[in-house]
Amino acid sequence: MKEITLKLNYTEYDSIEEMSAEDQQLVKAALESQAGSYSPYSNFQVGAALRLANGVIVKGANQENAAYPSGLCAERTAMFWASANYPDVPFDTLAIAGADHGELCESPASPCGACRQVMAEYQKKYGRPLKTIWVGAKRIRKFEKVDDILPFIFDSLKV
Ligand code: THU
Repeated sequence: MKEITLKLNYTEYDSIEEMSAEDQQLVKAALESQAGSYSPYSNFQVGAALRLANGVIVKGANQENAAYPSGLCAERTAMFWASANYPDVPFDTLAIAGADHGELCESPASPCGACRQVMAEYQKKYGRPLKTIWVGAKRIRKFEKVDDILPFIFDSLKV
């Protein structure tokens, strides 16, 4: 028997100015994407902006429904739309920003487990790391690969 400790890495920024120009652009796109949120039930507006390997930025926002499970998170609206419209273009970086009643949350947006699993699928499909940027009013986090936010990723091809 042995006890094992996992290590994960991420970068934390105190302000957007510390980020690269292209990451700043993606963060701004995620903030803009919040305008597309349809969230009359939670009043929680999530914006997502996904940069593809060809430079295109695809926006997404959470969509809610009176039958709650029929809604969808911002991250998945962006990823599914991107995959449906650019099926052969790898995903590069996904930025996410959450707002409560229109006010950007202080702590960085943390994607739900289902969205992390979908990220893992596309990371595997394209064979390259999918980076995520979690935007908050007080700080921003950047993760270089899905493995760092979803340890022991489910992968049906592994035994
Ligand atoms: N939501 C997202 O859009 N992304 C996440 O990763 C977590 C939650 C949405 C779903 C729902 O519309 C609202 O936030 C409140 O849970």
